Formats: sequence, structure tokens, C-alpha cells
Amino acid sequence: MIDGGRGPVRWMVTGAGGALGTDLVARLTAPGDEGAPPGDSLVAVTRAELDVTDAAAVRAAVHGWVGETAGAGRPVLVNAAAYTAVDRAETDPEAGAAAWAANAEAPGLLAAACAEVGATMVHVSTDYVLGPLPGGARRPLEPDDPVAPAGVYARSKLAGEQAVRAALPDAHHVVRTAWVYGATGANFVRTMARLARERDTVDVVDDQHGSPTWSADLAAGLVALARSSAPAGTRHAAGGGATTWCGLARAVFEELGADPARVRPCDTASFPRPAPRPAWSVLSDVSWRAAGLEPLPPWREALGTAVAHHPELLLG
Ligand SMILES: NC(=O)c1ccc[n+]([C@@H]2O[C@H](COP(=O)([O-])OP(=O)(O)OC[C@H]3O[C@@H](n4cnc5c(N)ncnc54)[C@H](OP(=O)(O)O)[C@@H]3O)[C@@H](O)[C@H]2O)c1
Repeated sequence: MIDGGRGPVRWMVTGAGGALGTDLVARLTAPGDEGAPPGDSLVAVTRAELDVTDAAAVRAAVHGWVGETAGAGRPVLVNAAAYTAVDRAETDPEAGAAAWAANAEAPGLLAAACAEVGATMVHVSTDYVLGPLPGGARRPLEPDDPVAPAGVYARSKLAGEQAVRAALPDAHHVVRTAWVYGATGANFVRTMARLARERDTVDVVDDQHGSPTWSADLAAGLVALARSSAPAGTRHAAGGGATTWCGLARAVFEELGADPARVRPCDTASFPRPAPRPAWSVLSDVSWRAAGLEPLPPWREALGTAVAHHPELLLG
């Protein structure tokens, strides 16, 4: 069991400059009840500050973090660093190698360092590791459903999960999420907002189903998980409910006050991409609820909250 929910936490966030990393830092430094209670501390490192593929640097950073904050609460490292350019990883061997280093090997380096200093690790993974359900069934996916990663990114993320579990059998939280968009960086929501301005109609894939996830909600969920007394394990956390990319695009148009009928459904075959996408990525919240955690808000409501707090998302 992870000793959670009792006393202060000393946090470390890797990949702090990414979409999720930015929201984790915002969450942990927010004023009042939303943020970390007094007594918590935070070390947040961007890629420029810590390349998680550098074994010696990882070890030094993790030892330095725990050593410098000795006695100041349970150490929890949240790894938000990842190589996320899934199509480039598929087509460019150098990018594929970078994806393997960041997604498969680096989590193992971080987990080994956490094991040395007695830290818990929260590691973020993806729906891409999951395969189709037997018999073509369609129901929300559970953590113990079959894995069948298709593509370089997916395989690298599965290997990363496995490395974290192996190095920290009793002190890991692997959390698979899906369809993440944040206030920082490029994402589908921004792209649709831009296309709404540039084009009369937009064709968007309507045969891939998933759970859009506002990264601030995910960040809040990961912090709650790390604070809880949930046992080590693999869980799913994504926005509530499900839609298709076309459904999400139409919702973006609605938020813009544009006609959602300008988004026209198409199928995956008419919009080929180098990295295969899962057709069914709807993640169940049963494992999350079983840990006593509040499910993430429904995806449509979350999109409204996201654009209310970050209207710049709609600027494209
Ligand atoms: N976005 C999604 O739809 C989605 C879906 C499911 C799961 N996830 C997972 O969610 C997590 C967070 O993703 P995100 O959406 O926040 O992605 P993101 O915005 O691309 O952030 C990833 C961050 O990791 C950094 N990074 C890459 N290689 C690194 C290295 N070697 N050392 C240190 N930092 C490195 C990146 O820096 P640079 O930008 O400088 O490269 C970036 O700041 C990842 O584990 C991802 O696999 C994402």
C-alpha cells in the first residue's frame, strides 16, 4: 500500500513545460484550497532543466530533490515528460529512437531513482497501448483489458509502463489517459478553432471513439490520486463520456458560435495517418472510482470550462 493522504508531500514534476506538466505545476502552486497545502514543496523541471533520457542527470536530480527537502513529507514524482509526436515517431527513425528513449527507457530510469530514494512515482500513459476488445465488443476499457500497441509511440508507452511497474512494484501509479488538450501547445481543439476560421467546411473522422480530456482536470486527478491512500496500480482517467473526433470538433464550433454542421463526418480510411489510431479509446472510470477518487468531469462540460478559463484556445 502507498502511504497516502497523510501529511505533506514533496512533489517533483518532470516534463513541466508540456501541456499536462504546465497544469500540474499550476495545480500545485494554486492559491487556496485548490493548490497544495502549506508544508508541501515542489521541484518542477522542464526538458531544458532535466532531460529524462540522461541516466546520470535523472539520478542526480532525484537524489538532489529528496536530499535537499529531507524530512519534508512523502516524495512523489509525477512524470509528465514524453515524446508525443506520434506520426513523426512512425515515419522518422531518429524520432522513433527519441520516442523510445523518452517513453520506454526514461520512465525506467526515473522509477529506478525513485526506488533508491523511497519515492512514489505517478506515470502517465495512453489509450494507444490498448487493443480491440475480443469479438469487436464496444464498452469502456478497463486497465486489465488486452494491450496491443500498434505503432512506435504505442509500443514505447507500453514499455514505459512496464518499466515503472517493475522498478516500483509497491509505489507506482500508472494512469492511462486519452485525447488530452491543454492551454499550452498545439492540440486538436486549437486546430479545429483555426480551421473554423479558415474553411467553410471541415471533414473530421467520425469512426474513432474516445474520451476528450482537459489537462487541468487530469492534473487535478493525478494530484488527488497521489494524495490518496490508493494502492499501487494501473488506472484509467479521462474526461467523462465519449464522442468521436467529429463530435469534439462540432463542440468546438458550438463554443465558437459557429454552425456545427460545417463539420462533416468522414471515416479513418479517407484521412490516413502514419501512426495507427485506436478505433475505440473510451476509457472506463471504474478503476478510478474504486480508488475512492472523483471521476474527471464529463468531456463536454470540461470543454466549456476550458474555453471559459482559456478563451485563447478558440483563437486557434
Ligand atoms: N496529448 C494526448 O492526447 C495524450 C493522450 C494520452 C496520453 N498522453 C500522455 O500524457 C502525458 C503528457 O502529455 P502532454 O499532452 O502534456 O504532451 P506534451 O505537451 O508534448 O508534453 C510533453 C513534455 O515532455 C517533454 N519532453 C519530451 N522529451 C523529453 C525528455 N527527453 N526529457 C524531458 N522532457 C521531455 C516535452 O518537451 P518538448 O516539447 O521540448 O519536446 C514536453 O514539454 C504523456 O505521457 C503522454 O504520452 C497524452
